[in-house]
Amino acid sequence: MSNNQTVGTIDKFDDYQGHQIDKLTLSNANNVSISVITLGSTLYELNVPDKEGGVRNLVLNFEHSQDYFENPFYICMGIGRVGGRIADGQLVVDGKQTQLPQNEGTTTLHGGPDGFNTQIWQGEIGKQDGNDVIIMHHLQKSEDDGFPGDMDATITYSLSDDNVVSMNFSAKSSEDTVFNPTQHTYFNLGKTSDIMSHQLKLNAIQALKLDDKKIPTKDRIDVEGTPYDFRKSKSLGDAINAMSNTKEKGFDDVFAVHPDAHNIIAELKDPDTNCSVAIESSRSGMILFTANSFTKDHMNFVRTNGVGHPHEGVAMEPMILPKPGQEKDFSEMTIKKDQSVSYAIKYHLSF
Ligand code: GAL
Repeated sequence: MSNNQTVGTIDKFDDYQGHQIDKLTLSNANNVSISVITLGSTLYELNVPDKEGGVRNLVLNFEHSQDYFENPFYICMGIGRVGGRIADGQLVVDGKQTQLPQNEGTTTLHGGPDGFNTQIWQGEIGKQDGNDVIIMHHLQKSEDDGFPGDMDATITYSLSDDNVVSMNFSAKSSEDTVFNPTQHTYFNLGKTSDIMSHQLKLNAIQALKLDDKKIPTKDRIDVEGTPYDFRKSKSLGDAINAMSNTKEKGFDDVFAVHPDAHNIIAELKDPDTNCSVAIESSRSGMILFTANSFTKDHMNFVRTNGVGHPHEGVAMEPMILPKPGQEKDFSEMTIKKDQSVSYAIKYHLSF
């Protein structure tokens, strides 16, 4: 057996409303580690070695479970059954309409009020190809979140010896239903309190035009000649500044992405630390959210000693591209009763 193994451990994180929350960690031989907490299957840390001989966490996190719920921005949480917005909470599966619980005015956002992120997952360390992996499991009941079917959901996290973090989301349901999960990771690859000096490349020539509830319309934005054009790596800060006359004052947008030959859809880099992450996904969409309204309230992030800042991190959320809200077409994310479906998201790290 090689000595390059990835090793897993389980520790108690804290207690939340009478439940013990655990933290599961994987470490490889390059001093890279990830940890995931059982609350919401939340990516808690993604540590890489830094030039000073220590480690640096590349994702936003909080010290306590409670903080994750006082903050409304799904900080690094597991998202399901469906990432993004379902207009008026009206889901249609096989021609049958279901009224889902709504959690953003009339909209069902990120799986609704009882989505994956609100659940306490069962975490264990398993084995894959001789390496330890983190396995998070949860039975998402229809009576709890209002979606059709009881869904057996598993998210498996692995870390390779060439520093690729893989997340595999798989599900099987007792009825036909929908599945379009993601991980709401916020990256900050640098040492400063925002991501304005990061560079971003996106394999996207169009974004969806959203209505005032951020629901996709049938119109598209051609990125060419607009701040949405990330086809060549460019300053994320400049692009955010170019959006300063919009209501959002930055990006909270759904891009139609074109995975390249290696299924890479996005690359984020911090020129200062030379740290980068390439995001691999074979799905057709991605939300780019640049944390425009982050303030110091309920934003007590560990990396900035308990104070939050606008644009402190950037979230890139791979998913199946949603259809225009008015079409109520969920066919691409529909999964059949007893069918096993899985989607992968990978972060290729260099530092
Ligand atoms: C994004 C969404 C934003 C915001 C953010 C965090 O996916 O588009 O509007 O809700 O998640 O909550």
